Amino acid sequence: MKIALLTSGGDAPGMNAAIRAVVRTCIYHGIEVYGVRDGYRGLVEGDIKQMYSFDVGQIIDRGGTILGSARLESFKKDEVVAKAVKNLKIRNIDALIAIGGDGTFKGALALEKHGLKIIGVPATIDNDISGSEYTIGFFSALDTSMEAIDKLRDTSFSHQRCTVVEVMGRDCGDLSVYSGIACGAEIVVTSETGFDEDGILKRVQKAKNQGKRHLIIVVAENITDVRTLAVKIQENTGYDARATVLGYIQRGGSPSAFDRVLASKMGITAVELLKEGKHNLATVSRGLHVDSVKLSEVLVNKIDKPDLHESLQKLR
Ligand code: F6P
Repeated sequence: MKIALLTSGGDAPGMNAAIRAVVRTCIYHGIEVYGVRDGYRGLVEGDIKQMYSFDVGQIIDRGGTILGSARLESFKKDEVVAKAVKNLKIRNIDALIAIGGDGTFKGALALEKHGLKIIGVPATIDNDISGSEYTIGFFSALDTSMEAIDKLRDTSFSHQRCTVVEVMGRDCGDLSVYSGIACGAEIVVTSETGFDEDGILKRVQKAKNQGKRHLIIVVAENITDVRTLAVKIQENTGYDARATVLGYIQRGGSPSAFDRVLASKMGITAVELLKEGKHNLATVSRGLHVDSVKLSEVLVNKIDKPDLHESLQKLR
């Protein structure tokens, strides 16, 4: 048996731990394993090389992905997907393990339709694979944003300011709301809460009237321009206000213990599912327990998650 693996989409801490687990588990079971460089682009261009145990030494603690990643718009085209499948078939590679976020999973579904055996492994800081409780990289990115917001709070308190922080997550508010809970933010704005500017200004004004020295507002990306919001807060409430966009810093850095363990378990599971003749599945997290669901369902079926916005109300 021969298995290829790739990482695709926005990189996430823990991708390397997943690569290491896939490679080492393949070797443990006597399976040849091939690394594809730069995601689906490498698959289309045939940039595929056999990997060995020593290739994945000293990477469990490294951020990013040693295989490289890319976003490939043209992978939506049937003929491009067909070329990728052909590149695996001519090398007699039976199956692919695709590690990444929702774009990666959409690509994996396209490959599945072309008859390739696929296992998807969710790895994205956004935590937006709805069939998985957590994705590899989410908690590491949360640690990074928490550390950054803690630092912003120090200066916010000293200067009696209102600090508006933009957190990543594409269209998913998880990183924002978890950051809000972890950092004691007064207000968290995500696509789930919607953006009610007047409501926010009233709440900030109320906090000022109550004598609150400083305030942290977390805003998920793609909701509003945080700099403009900070100006409006400064103009309409008694607070001096500043905005910070955390940006790509959230994607880098050494993975947390949780992500290393989750990535290792998912990597092992992905290989062993293929070994058992199972495919077209995604590994999913139920906490640190790893299960699998149909690839076609992982982006559609939502598992129940606690309403953290409700928790935030109690912590204000
Ligand atoms: O999916 C991870 C992520 O960092 C999102 O949070 C963000 O919206 C997006 O990637 C940014 O994408 P790019 O790397 O293409 O700028």
